[in-house]
Amino acid sequence: MNKNNDELEKLQETALRYYWQPTQPWNEIAEMGPEIADASDGIRIRINGKWGIDAMSGLVLVNVGHGRSSIVEAINQQLTQIHYGNTFTTSSPAVIQLAEKLASITPGDLNRTLFTSGGSEAVETALKIAYQYHVNRGEPQRAKFIARQGSYHGISRGALGVTSRAVDAVELFAPIMSNTTRLAPQPQYYWREDRAQTLEEFSHDCATAIEDIILAEGPETFAAVIAEPISFSAGVAVPGSNYWPLLREICDKYGLLLIADEVINGFGRTGKWFGIQNWDVIPDLMTVAKGITSGYWPVGACIARDHVFDAFKGDMDVTYRHHFTYGGHPAGGAAGLVNLQIMEEEGLVDNAARVGSYLISKLKELESHNSVIEARGIGLLCALELVADKGNRTPFTSLDGAAKRLTRILAESGVYTRANDHLFIAPPLTTTEDDVDALVEMVDKSLAMVEMEFGLS
Ligand SMILES: Cc1ncc(COP(=O)(O)O)c(C=O)c1O
Repeated sequence: MNKNNDELEKLQETALRYYWQPTQPWNEIAEMGPEIADASDGIRIRINGKWGIDAMSGLVLVNVGHGRSSIVEAINQQLTQIHYGNTFTTSSPAVIQLAEKLASITPGDLNRTLFTSGGSEAVETALKIAYQYHVNRGEPQRAKFIARQGSYHGISRGALGVTSRAVDAVELFAPIMSNTTRLAPQPQYYWREDRAQTLEEFSHDCATAIEDIILAEGPETFAAVIAEPISFSAGVAVPGSNYWPLLREICDKYGLLLIADEVINGFGRTGKWFGIQNWDVIPDLMTVAKGITSGYWPVGACIARDHVFDAFKGDMDVTYRHHFTYGGHPAGGAAGLVNLQIMEEEGLVDNAARVGSYLISKLKELESHNSVIEARGIGLLCALELVADKGNRTPFTSLDGAAKRLTRILAESGVYTRANDHLFIAPPLTTTEDDVDALVEMVDKSLAMVEMEFGLS
């Protein structure tokens, strides 16, 4: 339906009256008006009546693009046949088949999938599995986790417990959190203090800082390390080639499980099926969501290696007692199967690698802007590091209102994404080189406009 202005205004009024928009300050919503997305197709989405490129794939999940009728049909068929079958004792065919499919595309012996309805639940699941794994093996004192500064792993209490991005109000909720997480440095090369360090040296130090934490408090007290292979929230932090192999070695040496949070990285985003495959490393647990169905149905999952699941084989005392009502929903199984089939048939993982390297080369050209200090990325997961002052590397958000203004100018020119100290560019994996040209041109012009308005030109 094409909303005319009256309809749109009426909906906005209703939203202002009844809808609780998470994460955004009320004053801004009231002033700017709620944003209403009501149609989408391919890499484009319509918001408040205006079509534009969905340059962040929704919340980095619409991997196969919008408007895939084959996924919708599969969901429809599934719901008609059986719409709910995932009780404590039952599962349904599509869900079992999706678990089998995941085992075939994940690296190594990551063969066992427990489904959830989203990424935070997948992280909750992984943290609890990691702890009970040690309990079942006679080490109940292994109750702490190591995460990295600036990471986001979800918003529920457990997942928030390993999240440290300031914007998620971690400090506000600190009094109701358990104090079981220790924070290690994020391998975000841009953040290094010693500017002379190479990427490999910096990455080595970030990995060995984890070993230092383990040794300081005792290896026997830690359950696991959780990390995104490439942290999105830290502005797309692609570590040096030594980081992940070293992290694997450290976890093995001290008996910690390694959890790779692939909620954003997974399903082709980085030009590999999974982000971790950019290095020859197999984590013990993997959390996935988002791209598993490209958002056509809410699905998340925790995938475990054989040796992890083996610790849960037995009677009730070792059984993992953890279940979400919507985890393993049949429609999610059906959506996931067709979504992955599309990715395979259309070669979208390879497309992400190929178009992604074109995208990053074009984004690099934007480093000539006074507000862009660095373009970085891997596959179709890219970001511009924005600054108010290149010489001092002053964060862009220190310019009051500039990030919001940039987001708005981009939207007006036809690019939907989000700017803070980073401008994220992560379009659907179906994006072509021509789309990239159009997208980057609009970003280029929008940056110039905001720079002029804020005296950066
Ligand atoms: C790395 C990572 N882990 C976990 C989550 C939480 O996923 P959800 O929003 O589906 O709960 C997110 C969400 O963006 C994420 O980026």
